[in-house]
Amino acid sequence: MDKEQFSGFYKKTIKERQEIVAKEFSLNEDDKKLLEKEGSLPFEIADRMIENVIGTFPLPYGLATNFVIDGKDYIIPFAIEEPSVVAAASNAAKLSSGFTTSCDEPIMIGQIQVVGIENLEEAKKAIEEKKKELLDFVTTIDPVLVKFGGGPRDITIEIVEGLNGKMLDIHLLVDVRDAMGANAINTMTEKLAPKIEEITKGKVILRIISNLAIYRRAQAKAIWIKESLEASTKGQINGEEVVEAILNAYNFATATQFRATTHNKGIMNGIDAVVIATGNDFRAIESGAHSFACFEKKYSPLTKYYKDENGNLVGEIDIPLALGLVGGATKVHPMAQLSLKILGIKTANELARIIACVGLAQNMAALRALSTEGIQRGHMGLHAKNIAVQAGATKEEIDIVAQKMIETKEVSQAKAEEILKEIRG
Ligand code: MEV
Repeated sequence: MDKEQFSGFYKKTIKERQEIVAKEFSLNEDDKKLLEKEGSLPFEIADRMIENVIGTFPLPYGLATNFVIDGKDYIIPFAIEEPSVVAAASNAAKLSSGFTTSCDEPIMIGQIQVVGIENLEEAKKAIEEKKKELLDFVTTIDPVLVKFGGGPRDITIEIVEGLNGKMLDIHLLVDVRDAMGANAINTMTEKLAPKIEEITKGKVILRIISNLAIYRRAQAKAIWIKESLEASTKGQINGEEVVEAILNAYNFATATQFRATTHNKGIMNGIDAVVIATGNDFRAIESGAHSFACFEKKYSPLTKYYKDENGNLVGEIDIPLALGLVGGATKVHPMAQLSLKILGIKTANELARIIACVGLAQNMAALRALSTEGIQRGHMGLHAKNIAVQAGATKEEIDIVAQKMIETKEVSQAKAEEILKEIRG
């Protein structure tokens, strides 16, 4: 590979970049077509979203059904590569008696790190005394946000200690309304920094949003009655047993971080899928969720389960969700805009409530399957089809091969090849 070809890559057009890549990596005609195929994210937009674009990367886009949230019906778009996630969420929603939700105000935290201060207590006091003045100043930075009812709400100050000494950790709390908030917060903290230096006589190092959005959480709750849980096993396991099995599975997640991590991964399967489908920042959501899972305690499950007085299963989730509707990819990605239309929502708050329900449904579906029939049965249908394709099955052969593998309880490429040989005579 000629590295020189990639210098100044960012200055080239997409077409020029594709040509370089085709040459440097000896792409064949099929590979080139993959790169050149323009899908629902036009190249022109993609080229403005990130650097060095050579194409776009599609994911399956599907709809989760059966969600009734605070009495309203929703169809929820998922963008995800993993089989069974959409089906599992839809199924858990169907088995439930609907979801009820609540949501915090959209308050995000901007952090300002101040070092080199001789008397930290005095500096802290000095900022506290000037708090009103500082907040008034920050209010002038983003008049549009203030017009929509947002803006700075508070400043808190802590003395914290790192490996190499103590410093001030200043939190600027801002109501960011329907934005995810990173841009607004980062601008505000950068503009506030010189004033902080003046007051503390210290040196500001970092000025950046915190992805631990503890003030911006969404909560959802659902009840799964015993009868519908029993029906979900086609009457093979009685409802009380299913409830007990799920409670046992939940208890396991409260006991060991190894299980809690996978428990939470299942929650994020659904959450990330909707976050991506709406053009939101899934890394921010992921980091916030896992950090919250161990915020001032050991790493714990993000959901909880218990029995109500009738012995039915109650599930709850409480999770930070820094989501936006007005900026970033959500605004420019046509598919994200389409997702918002399908969801029929107008505020980030509503999106957070929906996504919290998805996380809860996804988790309950996984626990139900794992604690009763095991996860593989549900996974096998699509997985078997994928294996059939890998083994060379044609369009007409895929279903036959997949079905035969499931019947013989052996889903592997070798088995698929054997079946193909058989049916082809
Ligand atoms: C797989 O993507 C997710 C699960 O492992 C979640 C869980 O174990 O709860 C099934």
